[in-house]
Amino acid sequence: MNLKGKCVLIGITGGIAVYKVCELVSSLKKQGAEVCVSMTENATKFVSPLTFETLSANRVVVDMFDPDRKWEVEHVSLAKKADVCVIAPCTADFAAKLACGIADDFLSTTVMACTCPIILAPAMNTNMLNSLSYQENERVLLAR
Ligand SMILES: Cc1cc2nc3c(=O)[nH]c(=O)nc-3n(C[C@H](O)[C@H](O)[C@H](O)COP(=O)(O)O)c2cc1C
Repeated sequence: MNLKGKCVLIGITGGIAVYKVCELVSSLKKQGAEVCVSMTENATKFVSPLTFETLSANRVVVDMFDPDRKWEVEHVSLAKKADVCVIAPCTADFAAKLACGIADDFLSTTVMACTCPIILAPAMNTNMLNSLSYQENERVLLAR
């Protein structure tokens, strides 16, 4: 697949697998994609936004109410721009938010405004993955 000229929105949530996404961002960039990264506040505790800013050559958005934001409504413009949205890693918490339609931070609001295909890469402890709550949320998300 030719990624030149395509915009890949990478949503990063707070799981231990965040370190693996450095390689993903770097590889997408090398393949010619424009990579836009948004992280949850908790994701920034695992890997610094600076790492993803450097790898993507783009500003990383974390805070919905960032005073440095551009004049446009950024979550809407980013959602419009994305050809595909990848949530990696996707925490149990974030999957629950998506399943319920909770939009209480920049990333969840942006994902809700996306009309492009959304790819989730869930990563969590096996018991969390097998829990009834996660399994129910996954069913809801896959049905969409
Ligand atoms: C060291 C550590 C590793 C974690 N790894 C995961 C994980 O792999 N998957 C997951 O769903 N939650 C994991 N968590 C819990 C999430 O960080 C927590 O649920 C958080 O609220 C997720 O926030 P977010 O979805 O807004 O990023 C981990 C927490 C810690 C402290």
